[in-house]
Amino acid sequence: MNIRKLKSNENPPKELLLLADPSKDIVNDYVDRGMCYIAEEKGEMIGVFVLLPTRPGTLELINIAVTEEKQGKGIGKRLVKEAIKAAKAKGYKTMEVGTGNSSLSQLALYQKCGFRIVSIDIEFFTRHYSEEIFENGIQCKDMIRLAQDI
Ligand code: COA
Repeated sequence: MNIRKLKSNENPPKELLLLADPSKDIVNDYVDRGMCYIAEEKGEMIGVFVLLPTRPGTLELINIAVTEEKQGKGIGKRLVKEAIKAAKAKGYKTMEVGTGNSSLSQLALYQKCGFRIVSIDIEFFTRHYSEEIFENGIQCKDMIRLAQDI
């Protein structure tokens, strides 16, 4: 698997980005402002992540996704680790990520990659997303914020 920054003349993989975030408007907004990286295997795109500078010294892992057929094989973990490496190399000191209260496997992944829960943005998803989101039989209402020093 090869991970590289998307070139300025290449289109971001919108379908893949929408796996992680169902709002087209929100994705379009941050993908223009952030740094998009893609993972390829045998010339085929299998993963994506987007890094967005938020505050001085802080980068947010604002989107991460692996194609459905490649999930559960350790690629997501490799992408998170690569995202941290890229942030460190650019001199950032803190990495943040946010996920839904219902995103149980994502919460596992981020904690296994060193993130700690730092706060909860109550009703984030009910305020910013027009459609109700359900995962694991739980309504996604609040954003769990995680961070780590890198
Ligand atoms: N309990 C404990 N650990 C769990 C778990 C659970 N319920 N669910 C997942 N994990 C662990 C896995 O065991 C693995 O850790 P390990 O290597 O120590 O065993 C880790 O989480 C992640 O597994 P991995 O195979 O690397 O994940 P992936 O390639 O499927 O990628 C996503 C993870 C989230 C990027 C991918 O599933 C995806 O694209 N999902 C849709 C988009 C999305 O939700 N993006 C994130 C938005 S916040």
